Amino acid sequence: MTKRKTKSRRRVHPATVILGILILAIIVAAALFLLQKPVVVLTDHTRFPVGEKVSLTSLVKEVKYGQLLNEEETFESVKASTRVVTFRIKTRLGKVVEETLTLEFYDNVPPVIAGGKDLSLTVGETLDLLEGITATDNSGERLAVSVQGEYDLKKAGEYKLSYFTADSAGNTATFPFTLTVMATPFDENGKMVDGVYKTSKGFELVIEDGIAKVDGYLIANKSYSLPKDYNTTRSVDENTMTAFRAMQQAAAKAGHTVTIKSASRNWNDQNYIFNGYVARDGLQEALTYSARPGHSEHQSGLAMDVLTSDSEEAKEPKFAAALAWLSEHAHEYGFILRYPEGKTDETGYIYESWHFRYVGKELAEKLYNNGDWITMEDYFGIDSKYRGYDE
Ligand code: DAL
Ligand code: ZN
Repeated sequence: MTKRKTKSRRRVHPATVILGILILAIIVAAALFLLQKPVVVLTDHTRFPVGEKVSLTSLVKEVKYGQLLNEEETFESVKASTRVVTFRIKTRLGKVVEETLTLEFYDNVPPVIAGGKDLSLTVGETLDLLEGITATDNSGERLAVSVQGEYDLKKAGEYKLSYFTADSAGNTATFPFTLTVMATPFDENGKMVDGVYKTSKGFELVIEDGIAKVDGYLIANKSYSLPKDYNTTRSVDENTMTAFRAMQQAAAKAGHTVTIKSASRNWNDQNYIFNGYVARDGLQEALTYSARPGHSEHQSGLAMDVLTSDSEEAKEPKFAAALAWLSEHAHEYGFILRYPEGKTDETGYIYESWHFRYVGKELAEKLYNNGDWITMEDYFGIDSKYRGYDE
């Protein structure tokens, strides 16, 4: 009899198998859960203009399988710059991992140049082109301004130039302006040269046959003379005389006697008068109140002295009152008080309450300036100084 060898089989209960599988699955699932790497989705919008406030949370789109540890904060910059932001994320296992994001603050705001304007000067004068020019920028930086373009202050011409500046981000600003270098109407000996010029206030100065006119108005002062043979006959301009008569009548109605002391004088008359004053008071003193021959407005036939304050009679109240009346009303007849008080630097002469110059009502009204007389020199942008004399 053969003994049948029988394999002994242990039978496993199916429930145990299922339980085992279940436990295994749970372990695997738990392991998978805990080992899951955190997922951080950051913004792809990382460029911001300077000055913008960027909050940290706005940079994070999503955090999965972990916890963002950063506290809320804001980032900003006034200058173009980059900034690395580090995000700290706690994994499910309690580990901390880091992610970084680089923010870029860009500056595309150009600087602003202020104080620029067209400039003009006469050959021989100097000028700081950068005076009063400032540049400001959103970055708060101190910006240097330069002048771009070629120019020569010694050469008459119209130069198209510009101010230029740039901030550290490379934004630039330019301000175009015109520099006018005007030809000087005087030669190296101080003699007037016929031609057409511009005054510093932009008026046209025409010198023709040795006679200077600015904006059409004849000028006779220490700078601009009249030819020796101009008005040798001492004639007074017709409009000037007509206007004077009207002013004289109005003054009379107001109770003032106005007479002509001295109207037109020719070159020789002025030469005689001036030399007389020089002999009496000396050259320096005489120059303050008397014109050299050729430079007197009296030679033009457009000026007149009414009464005189250098005589005793002007000290009497009725003369002072007449002069005061003229000072207030002359402009209504087209006359100006040619040498106002306190304007010696402009006119070249001390105050002359008696010297009136006919310019017509339009200009007289402007120069009257509500009683605060403006000089022809100031208004037109010309000077009154001798050139080419020894003293
Ligand atoms: N007294 C004035 C300035 C002249 O001599 O013309
Ligand atoms: Zn005078």
